[in-house]
Amino acid sequence: MLKKISLTISLFFVVNLKVKSAVREPVSYKNGIVVSDNYLASMAGKDVLKNGGNAIDAAVATSLVLSVVRNQSTGIGGGGFMIIRTSKGEDIVIDYREVAPKKAYREMYLDKNGNVIPNLSTVGYKSIAVPGLLSGLDYALKNYGTKSFKELSSYAIKYAENGFKVDKHFVVASETLYKRGYTKDLANTFFSNGKPKKIGDIQKNIDLAKTLKIISEKGISEFYNGSIADKIEKAMKINGGLITKEDLKNYKPKIRKALKGSYRNYEIITMPPPSSGGIVLLEILNILENYNISWNSIGYGSEFLHILAEAMKHAYSDRAEYLGDTDFVNVPINQLISKEYAKKLKINIEKTMENNFYGKKYLNDDSGTTHFCIADKYGNIVSATETINTYFGSQVIIPETGILMNNEMDDFSSSPGKPNAFGLIGNENNSIQPLKKPLSSMTPTIILKDNKPFMAVGASGGPRIITGTLQTIINVIDFGMNIEEAVSFSRIHHQWFPNKLFVEKEIPIDVINNLKAKGHEVVISSGESAVQAILIKNNIFTGASDPRKGGMPDGY
Ligand code: GLY
Repeated sequence: MLKKISLTISLFFVVNLKVKSAVREPVSYKNGIVVSDNYLASMAGKDVLKNGGNAIDAAVATSLVLSVVRNQSTGIGGGGFMIIRTSKGEDIVIDYREVAPKKAYREMYLDKNGNVIPNLSTVGYKSIAVPGLLSGLDYALKNYGTKSFKELSSYAIKYAENGFKVDKHFVVASETLYKRGYTKDLANTFFSNGKPKKIGDIQKNIDLAKTLKIISEKGISEFYNGSIADKIEKAMKINGGLITKEDLKNYKPKIRKALKGSYRNYEIITMPPPSSGGIVLLEILNILENYNISWNSIGYGSEFLHILAEAMKHAYSDRAEYLGDTDFVNVPINQLISKEYAKKLKINIEKTMENNFYGKKYLNDDSGTTHFCIADKYGNIVSATETINTYFGSQVIIPETGILMNNEMDDFSSSPGKPNAFGLIGNENNSIQPLKKPLSSMTPTIILKDNKPFMAVGASGGPRIITGTLQTIINVIDFGMNIEEAVSFSRIHHQWFPNKLFVEKEIPIDVINNLKAKGHEVVISSGESAVQAILIKNNIFTGASDPRKGGMPDGY
């Protein structure tokens, strides 16, 4: 690939980007693969596959291990989305996103003057939405798996009980909180002697191990309607939280219809609302389809990145304007993902435009988190993204349970038009209502070629999930990169608001200067999404974990 880049430079005088320096060789397996952002989780999933389990069994084990070893990003106090492509060719979409408690209300984070009360939607009991993770895993297992929850949870229980060595991502997340401010709960469970742990220190969560054991013996009803539900309700009452036992009892995963589109000759199967991910991804791909993108045409320099950024601005502008939970509000999905609409979304190739140029004007009538992908020898594929939202979620740990709760309520627009923790804005469609789900960016995706699975992909990283997933897809389809290069390659991100173009620091200064000359306010990214992806060619599975977060594939 590096050879190809220099050839492009000499022939066409296009300044191309370089593959990030630390690209590993892609790893390939014949019988099954698990790609996650933590090696212990990938190993657990691989073990399940090797012992005759299918991709859905492996997904449950992987997810539960992530709940322990990546508890800064996900956990049984959170939720997620899973797309399964079964060996029979069915597409199953499981929505186990957290839901607003019944007592939630539109103005719950506003003071009497209508101003947002700082931190109320991000830290503490009021920021917590009703968790869905266990019910989603349970549904997947009961309907598509083959093994018992008890067997699959044993890996997670082992790490919670005996401990595991913390890695760089855990340490960075803890140090971030240490500097920003943290709760006593958080320090007691994740710090040592009141200070963040160092790489290689051991992290245990004995209470969480006990909780997982109870659930593995008695089933998830303990969490939703048993002893654990009692503890959650009690802690909520004492601390001003809104979740009741009734909320927990009523939580059910929702089976949704997959959002489908195409990019060039590939079929894209992705996440519908309450995620914005699928719509934004397809809208951008539809815009890009109108351009000739390859090394030998436009190259991977400022001309291409400007078009990419402008497409992102259009789609994120629509995200802010239209998207929300379709169980509560109308979202013009079919128009937003249509090829005709994409043709109307103009891009000025000379310069970027004012904010009001993007999106809605053309429509007639849109960290924390973890992603994993699994493929098995039977032909099943899983692509799942799970989260407790920002690092360590709400920082609330329910007493005696070890369960770290999400702060997913911040994904609503607390005050329509005002930015959330990710700087994203939304309007009335994403305002708080009882039992409504906050808009997500999680984008689990499966891609088919000639009606056969070709790629599974997704990411963690708030709104950058979508642009990270997008650029990995383009890197494979348009630029012919191998999966490691595609995942590692330097990325950009634009979410329309704030009006800034985030670029990774490896992007050459002359490319940045050309983007500035087109009017972009260029900012060096302080963090990027972490992509996990699998490519399937000739019955061989090749996977890559984003080096930005430190996971690793495993398989056999
Ligand atoms: N909590 C991040 C997301 O769902 O987009």
